[in-house]
Amino acid sequence: MPHTLLVLNGPNLNLLGTREPATYGRETLDDIAALCQRTGAENGLDIEFRQTNHEGQLIDWIHQARGRCAGILINPAAWTHTSVAIRDALAAVELPVIEVHLSNVHAREAFRQHSYVSGIAVGVIAGLGSDGYRAGIQHLAKRLQG
Ligand code: DQA
Repeated sequence: MPHTLLVLNGPNLNLLGTREPATYGRETLDDIAALCQRTGAENGLDIEFRQTNHEGQLIDWIHQARGRCAGILINPAAWTHTSVAIRDALAAVELPVIEVHLSNVHAREAFRQHSYVSGIAVGVIAGLGSDGYRAGIQHLAKRLQG
């Protein structure tokens, strides 16, 4: 049975394509979902790709991944910088987590330079646009192959 990876996206990422394109590019979330599906298929992984603007929904999806998914790639968006609850949920399910950001958060406002998630993540990718999603999935695939 192929492993399943959960790819989660936080608030406002549904607006990609039209949202601040100078910062986030012109690709839509559907484009990124298609890239993730392709990358998953190339690496023998099933991808579940989701986005929500509701923090509790994201937490429920993280909880449901326990025992069902092999890893989580997450762009927590603004919740990166605000949510202890999302960090705690990710820590609770004991799955390998990769944090990804389209933009280089470290080259932006000071409030974006702290992440509640990074401390429990296997790794963090920022500033590579959708390539970061691809790299994150490839890395998780490699880990799963041992
Ligand atoms: C983001 C960076 C966050 O600071 C911001 O709140 C987002 C998107 C990124 O992908 O670059 O919504 O996570």
